[in-house]
Amino acid sequence: MQALILAGGEGTRLRPLTSTVPKPVVPLVDRPFIAFMLDWLRGHGVDDVVMSCGFMASGVRNVLGDGSAYVIRLRYVEEPRPLGTGGALKFAERLLDERFLMLNGDVLTDLDLTTQLEQHERTGARATLALIAVDDPSAYGLVRCSEGGRVREFLEKPSPDQIDTNLVNAGAYVLEREVLDLIAPDRPVSIERELFPLLVGNGLYGCTGDAYWLDIGTPERYLQATFDILDGDVSSSVVDALYVSRLSIGEGARIEGRVVGPALVGPGAHVAAGATVAGRCVIGRNVQIGAGAHIDRSVILDGAVIGARTTVVESIVGPGVRIGDRCRIGEGVVLGEGAELGHDNQLAAGARLFPNVSLPDGAIKF
Ligand code: GDD
Ligand code: MG
Repeated sequence: MQALILAGGEGTRLRPLTSTVPKPVVPLVDRPFIAFMLDWLRGHGVDDVVMSCGFMASGVRNVLGDGSAYVIRLRYVEEPRPLGTGGALKFAERLLDERFLMLNGDVLTDLDLTTQLEQHERTGARATLALIAVDDPSAYGLVRCSEGGRVREFLEKPSPDQIDTNLVNAGAYVLEREVLDLIAPDRPVSIERELFPLLVGNGLYGCTGDAYWLDIGTPERYLQATFDILDGDVSSSVVDALYVSRLSIGEGARIEGRVVGPALVGPGAHVAAGATVAGRCVIGRNVQIGAGAHIDRSVILDGAVIGARTTVVESIVGPGVRIGDRCRIGEGVVLGEGAELGHDNQLAAGARLFPNVSLPDGAIKF
């Protein structure tokens, strides 16, 4: 089975994590995010993946290569300029089979694609969308269906008064190649705003799933995805690595303080005496957590250094960031790769520091 993964968005809502790497390969727990998708796809018989890249394409290619590490054939198409979700599909046309899956490249899920493919076959659909129930559909594509799964209406990013169902487009489609005939070449096209409305009443079906599903495209949801993977709420091989105390400690890591599971501590990391890591954390490779520091519900990416008696709560600390002593970070803070924070700084309420920004001692109490 073949799958086309859309991986060309700029990931603006996930900045500064996506300022230095494209969203599909942002590290999540212990691997590039898209590795979770590749495992999921392989589990449903996908052995051939076309990655549709644009923004920072080489970043995706450098991390994933030809896919052999994931036991999947991986090819890339690179748009010269962003063509939108439908334009990207059209642009990949020459590589596509008669029937294939198409996925948004930022969704963590264990949706049952096998059932979706079966329904697609049974109904003779031209396109079958996976649908999922969410609390607030306003950030998604709202889908109204009738009996038998026929889509009556597709409304991208509905306004509050248009919301009368909680079923949204999960960003996983089964498509017949013939639908590409409806897309004009060489111009930006939105599959959600242009193609799906055209297919309503004309072979567009929805397949409602009851599975774990999360679009990881904001810092809040990125953290949620981390917690859910550690808790085993979504099927992934990470859970197998969490032993009795729900801890995974990498080779050469030194824990002198206390780490409360579920948590993952990367190879070569050091948690100094008197430091606490709790509430579901990921501590990356070679991270140093200083004496008496307190890390709670946070992700500290590879090579970051956290000073003594510094507190980090519900925040994301980018790779190679250096934070001085006695700082307070959180909640909802995101520090971009290589940022440096002197001693005695305080950042809160969703503050973002862009990559390589440097703040002297005592510079900010936010
Ligand atoms: N190649 C390419 N080119 N990919 C793109 C482009 C482009 O111009 N624009 C966006 N993408 C990719 C993004 O990288 C992402 O993987 C996917 O297309 C969806 O784009 P987002 O920007 O994340 O869209 P969204 O989250 O606001 O909404 C979409 O996903 C929702 C589910 O998460 C829509 O499909 C909604 O209908 C859906 O509910
Ligand atoms: Mg998205």
